[in-house]
Amino acid sequence: MSRYTVRDSVTTSHLLKRKQAGEKISVVTCYDAAFGRIVEHSPVDVVLVGDSLGNVILGYDSTLPVTVDDMIHHAAAVTRVVRRPLVVVDMPFMSYQVSVEDALRHCGRVIKESGAQAVKLEGGRRIVPQVKSLVDAGIPVMGHLGLTPQSVHVMGGYRLQGKSSDARKSILEDAKAIAEAGVFSLVLEMVPAELAAEVTALIDVPTIGIGAGGGCDGQVLVLHDLLGFDEDFNPKFLKKYANLGAVIGDALAKYDREVKSGAFPQLKNEF
Ligand code: KIV
Repeated sequence: MSRYTVRDSVTTSHLLKRKQAGEKISVVTCYDAAFGRIVEHSPVDVVLVGDSLGNVILGYDSTLPVTVDDMIHHAAAVTRVVRRPLVVVDMPFMSYQVSVEDALRHCGRVIKESGAQAVKLEGGRRIVPQVKSLVDAGIPVMGHLGLTPQSVHVMGGYRLQGKSSDARKSILEDAKAIAEAGVFSLVLEMVPAELAAEVTALIDVPTIGIGAGGGCDGQVLVLHDLLGFDEDFNPKFLKKYANLGAVIGDALAKYDREVKSGAFPQLKNEF
């Protein structure tokens, strides 16, 4: 690789060109090197080190306890093995809301210490100053509107957003404001498909939907959800592409049986 080539891989400008060409963008979450190696060898375009790692990996019941150090720890594991897809890191609750200075300091740490290429911030007009300053400082920002899990207690649960005409108008204004502030793409979570399509037509940067219908420029799913780790988690927006929870459970039961019966290890496993 030439010293002037940053990475021979997906960039924020590739994503913009995809939107202009009408080509869809695939995004998955990833939190560690084990899955990172598999995603690296897949055709997926963007890896999001989501703060959903709070629920999926760390066992919290929301994303609120996740820290900047948690995000750096997991994102660094991902970037050690992921080279081709663009790596975006979620900024956790209260790491950017308080002030522009906080946002610059924490996002700067994440980019420097994790090796990722971009950050994601939840919110609309209220975080426009943060988005502008980050982009000015050279940090690409992905936005996130609709159901923003860091505001779960204000929203009263993980439910569909943008249903009333006021809520719909507010999401449209937020989308326009943060697109003008310089985000390179925008996640739309749990909003009516028709509203997501309207946002997609309104702004120049790609929209990435989750529970937002097929009119978005791309889609994102939590990796463990699409792989079917939890057979009891079946929201309407999710499609499970595998049932790994059951596959892993069966493998563990077989291993346990064979250890206890003496069928494992065999002579071929000995030294
Ligand atoms: O944290 C996350 O995984 C996310 C996606 C679901 C968009 O924000």
